Amino acid sequence: MRLGRLLHITLNRTPVTVQRMKDLLDKHIVLGLTGGIACYKSAELCRLLIKCGASVQVVMTEAATQFITPVTMQALSQRPVALSPWNEAHALAHIHLTREADACLIAPCSADFVAKLAHGTANDLLSLMCLARPINTVPLLIAPAMNREMWAHPATQRNLAQITADGAVVLGVGTGDQACGEVGDGRMLEPHELIEELIACFQPKVLTGHHVLITAGPTYEAIDPVRGITNLSSGKMGFAVARAAREAGATVTLVAGPVSLPTPCGVNRMDVRSASNMLQTVMDKAKEATIFIATAAVADWRPDFVADQKIKKSGQPPVLHFIENTDILATLAQSERGQSRDLFCVGFAAETQDLLANAQEKRLRKGVPLLVGNIGPAAFGQDDNALVLVDESGTCELAHASKLSLARLLIVHIASRTRAIGLSG
Ligand code: CTP
Repeated sequence: MRLGRLLHITLNRTPVTVQRMKDLLDKHIVLGLTGGIACYKSAELCRLLIKCGASVQVVMTEAATQFITPVTMQALSQRPVALSPWNEAHALAHIHLTREADACLIAPCSADFVAKLAHGTANDLLSLMCLARPINTVPLLIAPAMNREMWAHPATQRNLAQITADGAVVLGVGTGDQACGEVGDGRMLEPHELIEELIACFQPKVLTGHHVLITAGPTYEAIDPVRGITNLSSGKMGFAVARAAREAGATVTLVAGPVSLPTPCGVNRMDVRSASNMLQTVMDKAKEATIFIATAAVADWRPDFVADQKIKKSGQPPVLHFIENTDILATLAQSERGQSRDLFCVGFAAETQDLLANAQEKRLRKGVPLLVGNIGPAAFGQDDNALVLVDESGTCELAHASKLSLARLLIVHIASRTRAIGLSG
């Protein structure tokens, strides 16, 4: 893979330059709308697609036009909406529409339209177009939206299984209040989630089959029920790594300290509070993992005593004694599993000075093949970062870029390292 080679070539040489790019730049997306209340979300979805740099061709079924007008979708997509196969200006539209497309996204996709796809029925422009799309080069993403009973019905589930077997990517559904007043599964995913899924579908699947375990964020060490010690880690780098690993096709478990960040799509998140909670969860989940990436800023110490009740002022400030927390990364990396070739461990180092020397020392002390260094105060809470990768053969700088761009490069690097040692998922 080109990027992987690039990373190796630049070891000990010039930094890799990463450009901040719109994630869907130059992508042409066919956005199909079928009949459902969730059509109101498709307007926002279309706007976000354009914002991400995509060009968008909207195709609507007759039923979709009952929920939102083609005029709205035309204004947002900046193109006339395709509605009918019987259009003299666009003969054979059902063929041409997908020939320049990078992906087709049907959002919302009704139960009826899922059934049509499952049977290859082609009696309107959108279903004709889906049947005529080049199946090997144009992915078809389906965002179902329906009442919870329709979603759970065996016929719908059978049809979804069928279209998945036929190569469609069936995205999940949300749970919650439905337009009909019922509560349950079947809501269309939110526009930002659909965008995340679409972007993911264009990323190289370099970690398919792998299970990646990631720690992220700070930990919180309680002093009493209302006070504690924590640090300034926002968790953004770890969450970006989790998203990038999932985009690369891995199953991802994210063990998160107290942060207020949304969970990346498709990532299994486990919230923890203290370093001890994090250690316990990591050791449990490590059994299934093939890659462990420790991005968390784990508190080094915890008070040796946690008061049951709030400590009141008594004229004298309390004296705190600390004990050192177990090093989660070192414990796992130096365990039998960490030493085996079944688990590849990656550490992070947030430093304030002497980044390279500290990162190299830390890599050896923790016993990990790869350590990623960054300047903590410059990165905490920011959307951007700069990294230096340190391994046995040298260093590689990843120049200043968004945390997500850096996370994707890091994942490609990790994938090439695991491939090199014969560790497959
Ligand atoms: N780490 C860990 N458990 C700890 C401390 C650190 O898993 N109790 C992991 C971090 O997630 C990171 C790496 O070890 O991947 C380095 O963490 P860092 O805080 O930079 O280093 P420390 O070992 O704590 O050393 P120091 O604070 O002295 O720099």
